Amino acid sequence: MVTHYFTASSLDGFIATTGHSLDWLLKQKFDEHGPMAYPEFERSIGALAMGASTYEWVLRNDPGGWPYAQPTWVFTHRELPIVAGADIRLTSADIHHVHAEMTAAAAGRDLWVVGGGGLAGQFADAGLLDEVWVQYAPVTLGAGAPLLPRALDLELIDVARNEAFLCGRYRVAGSLPVS
Ligand SMILES: NC(=O)c1ccc[n+]([C@@H]2O[C@H](COP(=O)([O-])OP(=O)(O)OC[C@H]3O[C@@H](n4cnc5c(N)ncnc54)[C@H](OP(=O)(O)O)[C@@H]3O)[C@@H](O)[C@H]2O)c1
Repeated sequence: MVTHYFTASSLDGFIATTGHSLDWLLKQKFDEHGPMAYPEFERSIGALAMGASTYEWVLRNDPGGWPYAQPTWVFTHRELPIVAGADIRLTSADIHHVHAEMTAAAAGRDLWVVGGGGLAGQFADAGLLDEVWVQYAPVTLGAGAPLLPRALDLELIDVARNEAFLCGRYRVAGSLPVS
């Protein structure tokens, strides 16, 4: 069982603008059946975690629907609305505790930290993040929600081009001492 952080990013390391827009991403060409594409990745996933901003983005952009069949833990300190019929659990519990719940629910399949970067960083701080997959779009944003605001040592284990995207898959090797 592997815990992944799989996301798209601007070339300068932002996963959304400061206003939480993904227009720069959604306009890009991407082959859903091509290398390192999201649908094949999602089939390996048994449970998801995401932060409140990411959840609210999905609610805004998929009104009335919910794109995931797997149980999803949403980290928040608020009582956010739950999509009817979706398996969504709001939590502010300790990362280790939630990871154990996700692992049990996933029944041998992998876990996906959808974002944002700060939440992926909290999994890394707890020693519970195994892989980082980044689909780099050919844009720079200059500012925004950070990809992964931690100092980590990563090992590149796969690379591909998918249409406009440079895709990298990395193993988390540990924290990186920085001065
Ligand atoms: N490019 C991509 O593929 C991609 C992928 C994923 C996300 N995104 C976008 O990136 C942006 C990420 O936003 P973001 O950086 O604000 O991150 P986020 O993780 O989505 O949301 C951060 C919020 O999550 C809650 N949270 C985080 N850790 C928590 C904890 N341990 N306990 C309880 N609550 C916790 C807090 O919300 P409260 O305190 O308000 O409850 C916090 O303000 C969003 O716009 C999202 O749509 C893009």
